[in-house]
Amino acid sequence: MPAASGRAKVGTRNSGTTVARDGQGLEVSGAGDEAIAALDFLRDEWLAFGNRLGDFVATADREERCLLLPVMAANLVLSMNSTEGRSLAARYLAQAEKMPTPANPRERAWLAATSAWIDGETDRALQIHESLVEQWPEDILAGKLGQLHAFNCGDAPALLRIGEHLRAGNPHNRYVRAMHAFGLEECNRIDEAEDIARRALEIDRRDPWAHHAVAHCLEARGRLLEGVAFLESMADTWEGCNSFMYTHNWWHLALFLVDLDRHDEALALYDRRVWGVWKEFCEDQINAISLLARLELRGVDVGDRWRDVATYLKPRLHEHFVPFLDLQYLYGLARAGEASAVTEMLASLEDRAERARPFEREAWAQAAVPAAHGLAAHAAGDPAEAARLLGQAMPHLAKVGGSIAQRALFGAIHLDALMKSGWNDAALAILQADERERPGVPWTKRALADIYRRVGRMEQALAAEYQAGQLARRYAKGKAA
Ligand SMILES: [Fe+2]
Repeated sequence: MPAASGRAKVGTRNSGTTVARDGQGLEVSGAGDEAIAALDFLRDEWLAFGNRLGDFVATADREERCLLLPVMAANLVLSMNSTEGRSLAARYLAQAEKMPTPANPRERAWLAATSAWIDGETDRALQIHESLVEQWPEDILAGKLGQLHAFNCGDAPALLRIGEHLRAGNPHNRYVRAMHAFGLEECNRIDEAEDIARRALEIDRRDPWAHHAVAHCLEARGRLLEGVAFLESMADTWEGCNSFMYTHNWWHLALFLVDLDRHDEALALYDRRVWGVWKEFCEDQINAISLLARLELRGVDVGDRWRDVATYLKPRLHEHFVPFLDLQYLYGLARAGEASAVTEMLASLEDRAERARPFEREAWAQAAVPAAHGLAAHAAGDPAEAARLLGQAMPHLAKVGGSIAQRALFGAIHLDALMKSGWNDAALAILQADERERPGVPWTKRALADIYRRVGRMEQALAAEYQAGQLARRYAKGKAA
């Protein structure tokens, strides 16, 4: 971490005692210059998805007076979604609570939110973070954590509300624009989202979260060539990103390539960019699983790649931090042929669902458990059972967490199961809806042609095949250009 970039800004309380303020003007108890510099560094590094966050932890370990340092370190390790992270967070929280400096109201809220997260009460953590940004919209990191909880709870409206509170207090902040844009996109306000994300890039083109928000908007509309061109034009700025942001933005680029039928290039991105940065990290793992699965659904042989991923999934059978993560771990294990691990994880998931608190019952019991069994059935080559079980989960699926684009994997597996098991009407309805939303995807036209042919609608089958061919020719030209 860089040395203190300047002295702590010092203000005066009504009582006459002095108080330090961070770069956002927020009061920080017990802070000297080094603590303020560390907090400013953490905020910027976290919002920029930088790869030097570990440097902050070393400073927090040494801190004896400023409780926000261990509190932030606790949140950082909790965001890893790992068993070790949770135990380490409990130690940081204890360190913060033992400090002699009295906490101010904002710091007390941070302490309560951190404690709630450690206890698995993510709904409570979300509420506290949302009220933090209502009261102190300059506390952008509170908004970042609140959006993370909203994302994991499948609460898109909260994701957006937090973005709006932040925008009100920080209208010209590029990080905040990108955060607001992502909330809008997840609430299907795609045009506004893209506009705001691009306005973030007018301030600084190197903002990976703004690139990410634009990618989601282009993905939602099926603007495939634009997606590739845009992300490729920004990729030079991702070298200093942490492994989540680096692998995830490359994953988004690979999704466009999959839909453009450029499967070899997508697989090459998997090998060079998406898998291999930090194999122990959950976010890297789900990007890898999701990309391999999507390639397989398009008929690509991914070789023995599942085996390597599964090596890193086996320690996760009983974690159950976020159902969205669990479902992908389970599918990765199943595709790798790890039958006993799948059986063990399914039993553990059922137990987790039984222990779910009211706020998370729908996510675990009504979505994750049937979806997990359905994914296992799909991987085991039983599409009828997969279609039945995934069909049960689908109405509740948003609750498992993750983004619309990420959860689309489960929809794609469900669709594949429907098509393979001859549920033509249901498959047709999904494909027609997909085509309306993303009319530029050749695979959708080909799948439509297949179903139309099966149900004897030959004219429509021929029309869909013709359109698929036209799109493929257009994309071949676009690539050449
Ligand atoms: Fe994304």
